[in-house]
This record gives sequence, structure tokens and C-alpha cells, in this order.
Amino acid sequence: MNLELNRPARAGLVAGVSESIAEDLAQRGLSVQPNALEPEVAHALRSEVTALDDGWFRQAGVGRLKDHHLNRFNRTDSVCWMDGRTDPSAQWIALADQLRLDLNRQLFLGLFSYESHYARYLPGDFYKRHVDAFRGQANRVVSTVLYLNPGWTPEDGGELVIYESAADQTGLRVTPAFGTLVCFLSEEFPHEVLPAQRTRYSIAGWYRLNQTSMDVLDPPR
Ligand code: OGA
Ligand code: MN
Repeated sequence: MNLELNRPARAGLVAGVSESIAEDLAQRGLSVQPNALEPEVAHALRSEVTALDDGWFRQAGVGRLKDHHLNRFNRTDSVCWMDGRTDPSAQWIALADQLRLDLNRQLFLGLFSYESHYARYLPGDFYKRHVDAFRGQANRVVSTVLYLNPGWTPEDGGELVIYESAADQTGLRVTPAFGTLVCFLSEEFPHEVLPAQRTRYSIAGWYRLNQTSMDVLDPPR
């Protein structure tokens, strides 16, 4: 019996995308994939996030658990965590899980869980240079960002700038264009979001290792 037949086809990822992400991560720790999703899935996510009213968004914070705090100097965006309770968010979570399995199979990363949120940057919003995980803590291993902005132009700003190292001051600029999926090793790449001139939507997410130990149940936010 061929169990492959029972699996939904790539769960919304375009064929070959997982493989090229895995290759890029192995070679340089970073991958930028334009048009990574089946258009219907990307459009459903875009429709959902643009229909969310203010009450669904929370001002984003920095740090985890006890360290979590609001810091309007570092970031001014608002977020809404994905919980899989609507069709688009369930599709997103299925897609992220497919990618997790594909990366584990190809890179032996042992990725265990995934957490993600919609992010909304209103005009003027930004997220200053930061890293998503700190060395030694091994909490977040691979960061992902999917962009949901059709017709984004250079005048709209809001680029993601990814730096190769702590010393890199130039960085690689990524346009937050509809359907572009960025993946990078969370500890390795400082990055920032430049101020956007119009409302900018993304889904930021992180694959994590299993941190469960005797008395701590993973994963808390
Ligand atoms: C983040 C982040 C980048 C983006 O939320 O940690 O870096 O382009 N987001 O939205
Ligand atoms: Mn980040």
C-alpha cells in the first residue's frame, strides 16, 4: 500500500519548495522563496487577516514568559496568534507541519513544534534589528515569515533586512511581497523590519525543539 497517496498534496506548498528551502538552509542558513504557497491558500490567509478588526490584535512584545514585555522602542507592530480554529489558520498550520516534516527528513533538525502569528504593521510601524533566539537557549531553531501584500512597491518600504552576521551592516533586503516565504536559522541572522508606508501583513513563525523536561510542559508562549 502506498501511504503517500493518502496525504494531501503538499498541504498548500508549491511542489519543490520544501526541497529548495532545505537546500538553502543547509548551504547558507537562509532561504527566500517567492510564490511559495498555492495561491488559494495565500489568498485565504490574506482575506482572513485583512478582515480581523482591531480587537483581534495585541501590541507585540519582546521576550518570552517572565521576560515578556512591551517595548515600543524596539517594535510597534500588532500580532494575532494562529490557533487553527478557522479554515485558513488550520491550512496554515497543516502547511507549516508539512514543511517541518520535510525539513526534518532532509536536514535531521528534530523540529518539534511550531508557533506563529499574524503581524500587522500600520504605516510607520517597524521592528528594530534583533535576533529571534539566543545562543544556548535552543528554543527557536528556524524562523519563517510569509508575506501577504499584493502589489507592494519599493515606495511602500517595510522591507525585511537580514544581516549575515553581527558585524554585517548592509544586509539583504526582502520585499514583503504576496506569497514570499522567508526561512532562516533563528540564532544566526539579526534582522529588522523597516518602517512601512502602508499597512503590511505577514505571518511570522518559529520551529522549536522539544524542550519538555520533568516538570516543564512545552510549549508555553
Ligand atoms: C518577527 C520578525 C519579520 C517580518 O516577528 O520576529 O522579525 O518581516 N518579523 O514581519
Ligand atoms: Mn524576528
